[in-house]
Amino acid sequence: MDNRDLLKFAEDVAGGAGEILRRSYGGKQSIHYKGEINLVTEVDRQSEAYIMGRIRSAYPDHGILSEESSEVHSATPYRWIVDPLDGTTNYAHGYPCFCVSIALEMGGKLLVGAVFDPLLGEMFTAAAGEGARRNGESISVSSTEMLRRSLLATGFAYDVNTAEDTNLANFREFVFTGQAIRRDGSAALDLCYLACGRFDGFWELSLKPWDTAAGLLILVEAGGVATRLDGSPYHVHHPDILASNGKIHEQMIEVIRRAKR
Ligand code: IPD
Ligand code: CA
Ligand code: CA
Repeated sequence: MDNRDLLKFAEDVAGGAGEILRRSYGGKQSIHYKGEINLVTEVDRQSEAYIMGRIRSAYPDHGILSEESSEVHSATPYRWIVDPLDGTTNYAHGYPCFCVSIALEMGGKLLVGAVFDPLLGEMFTAAAGEGARRNGESISVSSTEMLRRSLLATGFAYDVNTAEDTNLANFREFVFTGQAIRRDGSAALDLCYLACGRFDGFWELSLKPWDTAAGLLILVEAGGVATRLDGSPYHVHHPDILASNGKIHEQMIEVIRRAKR
């Protein structure tokens, strides 16, 4: 299987799902609560049904891990990792920051990733070893070297009320050491914005594989770096991620160390 064909497929499916999100955006949403503040809309499910249908008919023997469904297991090493709507809270409130995220891994190695923002019409893509793109144009991370000059992004998980680590200590430290922080509500877009140099650093504590898989490949292919918060190797199954342009990575690790004390 050629990565370019796989990426073309992922891009096409992300575009189709994005159109589903765009069409229903701004109207009254039918909302179900998965937890006290964790919600899912009917549109999440429609987008997911579309994506899973496309994968099943094109690659019937591939596995699928998608946020709102139970995992489809496969005898092959191929597994699609899907977030049919990343930024659901934004979407439900009519805040224009959300996307579709689709990645394919083979035996745990990411092969392709596509993240599509249907409102801005931005398609971020990457295939392993082939670089990262936005709407077909090559992208790369920023060259900012000082944390003090860096625009950072983070998020707070749905379990913030019960989590042992709320991320507030890190947030507080970065407020005083970075240039500014954004909390936009779509981890997949945060990683893509980092990949194309809009952000210089990003960290978050309780993410899932579907939040990060596609964005991670796009980031790494754009020259960025991702580790766990303590600097150890990151994998999409780890909940915590520290991602950056590489140049400010050590400075961010030091700030997080300080926040822990
Ligand atoms: C959420 C977003 C958000 C992050 C949350 C995620 P969802 O995904 O990525 O930025 O802070 O931790 O769960 O629920 O909108 O798909
Ligand atoms: Ca998500
Ligand atoms: Ca989601």
